[in-house]
Amino acid sequence: MEELDDPVGRSLHGHHAHLARRVGSAATYRAGVARFAAVPPEPTGSDWDDLARLLGSGRMADLFTAEVTPPRGWEPAFEAPGFQMILDRPLTAPVMADPLGPGDVPDMLTLVEQTRPGPFGERTIEMGAFYGVRENGILIAMAGERLKPPGWTEISAVCTAQEARGRGLGTHLIQAAVTRILARGERPFLHVLARNTGAIRLYEHLGFIVRRPVRFHGCLVP
Ligand SMILES: CC(C)(COP(=O)(O)OP(=O)(O)OC[C@H]1O[C@@H](n2cnc3c(N)ncnc32)[C@H](O)[C@@H]1OP(=O)(O)O)[C@@H](O)C(=O)NCCC(=O)NCCS
Repeated sequence: MEELDDPVGRSLHGHHAHLARRVGSAATYRAGVARFAAVPPEPTGSDWDDLARLLGSGRMADLFTAEVTPPRGWEPAFEAPGFQMILDRPLTAPVMADPLGPGDVPDMLTLVEQTRPGPFGERTIEMGAFYGVRENGILIAMAGERLKPPGWTEISAVCTAQEARGRGLGTHLIQAAVTRILARGERPFLHVLARNTGAIRLYEHLGFIVRRPVRFHGCLVP
C-alpha cells in the first residue's frame, strides 16, 4: 500500500503523466486540472529548487499530504488535519449512475461553489470518471475520480446541494464510483478533512476505514 503514501507523486509520474508539468524531479498538474505539486518523498535542496522553478516565485506550492518539510524561506500558507480512508468491504451489488462530461463542467463548477467539497477546476474532469444526479435539469449531486496511484483510484468532489441532502444521493454516487473502480480491478480510497465529521460518518457507513491521519499543507515559493 506504500503507493498511498505519495498519491500525488505516484499519479503525476504514472497514470496522470499526460496531465503533468515537470521540471527535473518536481511535478504538478496542468492549469485547471489540479493545483497539487510533488517532490520526491525525501527531497533534497535541488528537488526544492526544481519545484521553485516549476511553480515560480510567490506561487502556492500545494503539497497535499506529502510528509515533507519545505526548506527555510518557504512560508507556510495553509495546514489542516485530515484522514486518508480506504474501502474495507465489498459492495453488496453494483450501482450505476449517469456519467458527467465536459458539457457538464459549468454546472459542476456551480455546485462546487455552493457546496465546497474541495478543489475542483475547469479541467479536473480529465482526471477520471464523474457521475451526477440532475433534478429538473439542475445538477444537485456529483462524485468522481481524482488521484490514481498504481492500483488505486481516489474518490473526490463528493457533494450534494444543501436542499437535496439526506436523500441518499451522496451514498448512491459514491457507490457508483466504487462500482466502476472495483470493475477495473483497482481499490477505492479518499481524503477528508478531520473537521468534516458528517462526511466521515457517511464514508464509514459505506465501509471506508481510516488508513492514516494526514496533514494537508501548502507553502509559498520564495
Ligand atoms: C457529504 C455530503 C456529500 C453528503 O451528501 P448526501 O447526499 O446528503 O448524502 P446521503 O444522503 O447519502 O447521506 C447523508 C446522511 O443521510 C442519511 N440518509 C441517506 N439516505 C437517507 C434518506 N432517504 N432519508 C434520510 N436520511 C438518509 C445517511 O445515512 C447519512 O447519514 P449519516 O450522515 O448519519 O451517515 C453532503 O453533505 C455535502 O455535499 N457536503 C458538503 C461537501 C463535502 O463536505 N463533501 C465531502 C468532501 S470530503
